[in-house]
Amino acid sequence: MLFEQIASGGCRSYLIGCEDTCAAALIDPELGQIDRYLALAARQGLRIRHLIDTHTHADHFSATHSLARRLDIPVAMHRASPAPFVDLRLSDGECIALGKLRINVMHTPGHTRDSMCLRVESRLFTGDTLLMNATGRTDLPSGDPQALYDSLFNRILKLDPALEVYPAHEYQGRDHSTLAQELERNPRLQKRDPSEFVEMMRNLNLSMPFHLTEALRTNLSGGKTVAQLLAEASAMVPFMSLTELKSRTDARDPDLVVLDVRERDAYVNGHVPGARLLPRGQLELRVNDELPDPTQRILTVCEFGRISTLAAATLRDLGFQHAIALDGGMKAWREAGYPIVQGSE
Ligand SMILES: [Fe+2]
Repeated sequence: MLFEQIASGGCRSYLIGCEDTCAAALIDPELGQIDRYLALAARQGLRIRHLIDTHTHADHFSATHSLARRLDIPVAMHRASPAPFVDLRLSDGECIALGKLRINVMHTPGHTRDSMCLRVESRLFTGDTLLMNATGRTDLPSGDPQALYDSLFNRILKLDPALEVYPAHEYQGRDHSTLAQELERNPRLQKRDPSEFVEMMRNLNLSMPFHLTEALRTNLSGGKTVAQLLAEASAMVPFMSLTELKSRTDARDPDLVVLDVRERDAYVNGHVPGARLLPRGQLELRVNDELPDPTQRILTVCEFGRISTLAAATLRDLGFQHAIALDGGMKAWREAGYPIVQGSE
């Protein structure tokens, strides 16, 4: 088996491939690592054929939906997954054929209702059911400590103790462990009485994951993250630096329209000399009156440089081929000590 472990923050993803056929599967891919996965697969001579999430992630953004659209391949999850874009809904005891490899599915609810562990030869991809020296938490949506106890003690821990454990999260930089090692030293697995285990899991008092709402929204719907929207807009828009804009406003460049897309009160409080006001929320509806010439070079400006990027991308969609965004925003402009004009237009 060809095997790559990809760490990003505390998340672990795995690329596994059949040496004979070069077919590969990507387990628990993360949105920020798409280019790395594709580069690793290319370097190994692998073609990714399956995308698998071991469960609905609540703490990071899954790349399965984006990669599935890009590579035109199926997303596989347990059948209990509520995500509408899942193509291959798996049940306990089934397997995915990956060339000569078999990815064996075990339904192991507890961390979430749709959690699976995947056994491939000597490796067990445990998702968030079993971590090194820990287990997944059970206090997020669809978590159930009693179910986790059953999945661990009545399923996973009854497998061959020599199986290597590869979890979806690892925060100490360890590579993998074995079931035997976890049985011996994982502190959560020392509570072998079901009620003691459930009591322990109910009293962990963990803080909520930082991106919980956005991760559940995007992972369950296949929708985009805010960062994705911004990245897509940034790729379609050229930028102008603060110093370049400063020299052009000093020279009163007649060919550049500076468009401040913040709200009126922010504009009145202080804007770039010569800037016009057209708030982002009114852009599409007022563009015909305010900007009759689509060949005009328009530079969008906002407070931090993000809304202006989205506004410039929208203007390009509308046909303004020379729309660009300021690389930075009014905050950086003020901090640089550049000139500011107060009042309305
Ligand atoms: Fe998780």
